[in-house]
Amino acid sequence: MEYLPHYSVLNREAVDYLVENAKDGDWFSDLTFGAGGHTFALLQRNEKFNVLSFDQDPEAYKNGMELIEKNKVGDRIKFANTNFRNFDEVVKEKFGEDFEGFMGVVVDLGVSSHHFDKSERGFSFRFEGPLDMRMDTENNELTAEIVVNEYEEDELFEIIKTYGEERFTRRIVQNILEERKKERITTTKQMENICFHSYPKNMRHGGIHPATRTFQALRIEVNQELQVLTDVLSQLIKWLRPGGRIAAISFHSLEDRIVKHAYKGFTKEDKNLEILTKKPVLATQEELSENSRSRSAKMRVLQRKLDKTEEKG
Ligand SMILES: C[S@@+](CC[C@H](N)C(=O)[O-])C[C@H]1O[C@@H](n2cnc3c(N)ncnc32)[C@H](O)[C@@H]1O
Repeated sequence: MEYLPHYSVLNREAVDYLVENAKDGDWFSDLTFGAGGHTFALLQRNEKFNVLSFDQDPEAYKNGMELIEKNKVGDRIKFANTNFRNFDEVVKEKFGEDFEGFMGVVVDLGVSSHHFDKSERGFSFRFEGPLDMRMDTENNELTAEIVVNEYEEDELFEIIKTYGEERFTRRIVQNILEERKKERITTTKQMENICFHSYPKNMRHGGIHPATRTFQALRIEVNQELQVLTDVLSQLIKWLRPGGRIAAISFHSLEDRIVKHAYKGFTKEDKNLEILTKKPVLATQEELSENSRSRSAKMRVLQRKLDKTEEKG
């Protein structure tokens, strides 16, 4: 299996934030290993840093284990092939209840280029593929095919409207219902075709592709992306050491809203937590010229305040 390259978004910015208060021997966590961009950048910043990484995708995990071996960093990294919503459990299992916690956690949300560019994963309407869209192909039984063919009309409407913020949701859902009466919808191209013909003729070309928002919505539902994000953020707080930071990189407004509101809630409940990014950090022009996907990236950083005794100087 060839694991396709992934541009690591806001990499330098995230790592700069996370390492600010760190010392030799500290632990970080990368909740979304992908191609390992953030994990390896942290390990390279200081040869005494350590990282606990997560990825629920078996292909990312396999590739990651090979990279870890090739780069001879096995003694500084622990890697969990599971959903990051199990953070608390994994930390206790790997470090024990007395573990003092992390100096930094990065979460770079969503899918990787590997997902988008491998037709057989079914994330992209650019290629013919099965209507799958699962990141965790081993434990998650819910595929986009099941959502499209077996969900009730009002559930489909809710998903495409809410997660896709799609203007033509009503027509798309009607067309799905009609199509699935004739035959099961099993491929990305069938689904693309339904979306395409649900758009008014004068809006089918030139703007964003008519399938873009529906595919985003299906992906979010299949992987429960918003629920797992909400779940994990509150687990992270408990394991954040004084001076420790969370850098969350999101790619659409639904995710960004969850991060922003969660951070606000945490700082209200706990005076030792503070938001370091009044406005989200965006990609530089230089990054945008190298990677257009960075255009929608927003990073927000939260910190547990340093103990007075640990403050620099
Ligand atoms: C945007 S990519 C991360 C890229 C990575 N930061 C890099 O620089 O190479 C997201 C990765 O996180 C994984 N992922 C997404 N949501 C996850 C979750 N809830 N639990 C574990 N892994 C997840 C995906 O499988 C994917 O490989």
